[in-house]
Amino acid sequence: MSFKIDRADGATLDLDEVLAVYHASGLGERRPVADRERFAAMIRNAGLVLTARDEDDGRLLGIVRAVSDFAYVTYVSDIAVVRERQRSGIGRALIDATRDQAPSAKLVLLSAPAATGYYPHIGFTPHTSAWVLNP
Ligand SMILES: CC(C)(COP(=O)(O)OP(=O)(O)OC[C@H]1O[C@@H](n2cnc3c(N)ncnc32)[C@H](O)[C@@H]1OP(=O)(O)O)[C@@H](O)C(=O)NCCC(=O)NCCS
Repeated sequence: MSFKIDRADGATLDLDEVLAVYHASGLGERRPVADRERFAAMIRNAGLVLTARDEDDGRLLGIVRAVSDFAYVTYVSDIAVVRERQRSGIGRALIDATRDQAPSAKLVLLSAPAATGYYPHIGFTPHTSAWVLNP
C-alpha cells in the first residue's frame, strides 16, 4: 500500500479524479465542488499542485494545492487525503513535498475545523492574527 508523490500541472489533471478525492476525504463539504467551472479554475490556477498516487494502480489518494513565491511564503489552499488512506503518512508526505518545492519559504494555511489537531501534530505553530476578507 505504498504511494508516490509528484508535482502535477493542475490544468492537465482529470477533474473528476480530483473531485473524487475531495468527496472521499470530506473536504468536498467545505469547497465549491458543485460549481464545476469554479472548481476547475481552482485546480487549474493553483500554482503549485502535488499529488499522492497509489504506487500499484496509480489511483489518486491525496492532493495539495498551494500558491508560492518559491522564496518567502507558500500558502496551502487545500490538502486532502481519501478517508480509507488517512493516518497512513500521506498528508505528512504531501506537506514535506510542498516544503521541498520551496525550502526557504514558510507554509501558511487556514485549518478546517476537523484538522485543527493535525497541524500542531506535524509541527505547525498557531498564528493569532490570521485575517480573511471574503469575496
Ligand atoms: C487532514 C489530513 C490531510 C491529514 O492527512 P493524513 O494522511 O490522514 O495524515 P498523516 O497520516 O500524514 O498524519 C500524520 C500524523 O498526524 C496524525 N493525525 C492525522 N490526522 C489527525 C487529526 N485530524 N488530528 C490529530 N492528529 C492527526 C496521524 O495520526 C499521524 O500521527 P503520527 O505521526 O504520530 O503517527 C486528512 O485527514 C484529510 O484529508 N482530512 C479531511 C480533509 C481536511 O480536513 N483537510 C484539511 C483542510 S485544512
